[in-house]
Amino acid sequence: MSSQHIVVVGGSSGIGLETTKHLVGAGHSVTMIGRSKARLDSALNATNGQASAVQMDATDEAALADGFAGLAPIDHMVLALGSSKGVGPFGSIALSNIKAGFEEKVYAHIACAQAALPYIHANGSLIFVSGLAAQTATPGTAGIAAANAAVAALVPVLAVELAPIRVNGVSPGVIDTPWWDVVPEEHKQALFAEYAAKTPVGRVGRAKDIAQAIAFLIGNSFVNGHMLTCDGGLRHTA
Ligand SMILES: NC(=O)c1ccc[n+]([C@@H]2O[C@H](COP(=O)([O-])OP(=O)(O)OC[C@H]3O[C@@H](n4cnc5c(N)ncnc54)[C@H](OP(=O)(O)O)[C@@H]3O)[C@@H](O)[C@H]2O)c1
Repeated sequence: MSSQHIVVVGGSSGIGLETTKHLVGAGHSVTMIGRSKARLDSALNATNGQASAVQMDATDEAALADGFAGLAPIDHMVLALGSSKGVGPFGSIALSNIKAGFEEKVYAHIACAQAALPYIHANGSLIFVSGLAAQTATPGTAGIAAANAAVAALVPVLAVELAPIRVNGVSPGVIDTPWWDVVPEEHKQALFAEYAAKTPVGRVGRAKDIAQAIAFLIGNSFVNGHMLTCDGGLRHTA
């Protein structure tokens, strides 16, 4: 595939950063979007200055129109931003916490897709990052499961409505990224060991695993309206 311009929203950390590195390595021009300048600067270093960075908040609807106009033309856009909200027992989790999860993930994904749409090439694609919570029945995850299911629901509808732009998604299992930094280190390692034991491939995921799945969806021009689960098989045992 010839060099293309790919925008990675959430490109400054975890899955988005690894995707950026993978795509830059394949010769593409990549723009990373994130809120924190410090995180973007560190991501620029991690890509040896081969990617570009733009500071933008995906929940700031007013800023998105100008922001994406400044990035045109765009071949592909990866929505790798998310939220850790919406986790907790259904009977006691505050509705405001679940709503925040939707604001930070579902509405942010939708707002970015709408704002970027006029600038996405007809031969290009959109890639949403959902999450395995939507496919498992783990107690205490109803809020985050619903948000990830909402993102997944966009994929087939938009693949038809936005044609010929392709629309795909990735559903990551448990991936060792800074997303998990909300969990104290010792507890996180115990949790990862538990998930690794439950996962048929015997380990938790690396951001690189998801980056490779995203690169595949970008590169294959006949895959459309597809949600690619990349979880080491955890969905069958969780
Ligand atoms: N890690 C997992 O186990 C896992 C599992 C299933 C699904 N996922 C999903 O995968 C996606 C990526 O997660 P990750 O693990 O890579 O998390 P991460 O390491 O925390 O990275 C999140 C990225 O999104 C950016 N971001 C967050 N809110 C933003 C906003 N409003 N505007 C612009 N950028 C924003 C962050 O930068 P700033 O904070 O500087 O803005 C950062 O670059 C998320 O949707 C997550 O729900 C992850």
